[in-house]
Amino acid sequence: MSGPILQELLQGIDAEVIETALVPDDAMLIARSLVRLADAKCCEVILTTGGTGLSPRDVTPEATRQVIEKELLGVELALHQESLRHTPLAMLSRAVAGVRGRSLIINFPGSPKAVKECFAIVQPILGHAVKLLRNENPYAFHETSGTQTR
Ligand code: MTE
Repeated sequence: MSGPILQELLQGIDAEVIETALVPDDAMLIARSLVRLADAKCCEVILTTGGTGLSPRDVTPEATRQVIEKELLGVELALHQESLRHTPLAMLSRAVAGVRGRSLIINFPGSPKAVKECFAIVQPILGHAVKLLRNENPYAFHETSGTQTR
């Protein structure tokens, strides 16, 4: 069970965890759960763990694709590329990332090890992504201080 680990990692970056949900390996239920969280407009980031592999019950990527409006290929590529540094088994993950409304949705594999590794990969872009989704200028602070950095 990697949910509690994910929760700890998020609290470690001062994110407020609004809801955690344990959803059966059923594409319709997963998609419904993602839609509920995204459309409630309270969750800026939705992270899933598990169900990205090859077994018949692994349907999280399919459910995620059903509900996202914009796919984030860059996040998917980074997860795959960086995960391959840790294990060749990363080739077996089909994790998807994308946006629905103003929510960023990212699939992580299910093992605690994978969750820790994948969180470290995406953590640097979470704040910037959330600001873009809020339609805020992510560079605002730097611009007003006259030291815009990218
Ligand atoms: N990615 C990282 N970074 N670290 C890992 O240990 N495990 C892999 C892969 N991705 C792993 C990883 C394994 S063993 C599998 S089977 C696939 O993710 C799919 O995992 P899932 O079905 O639990 O989502």
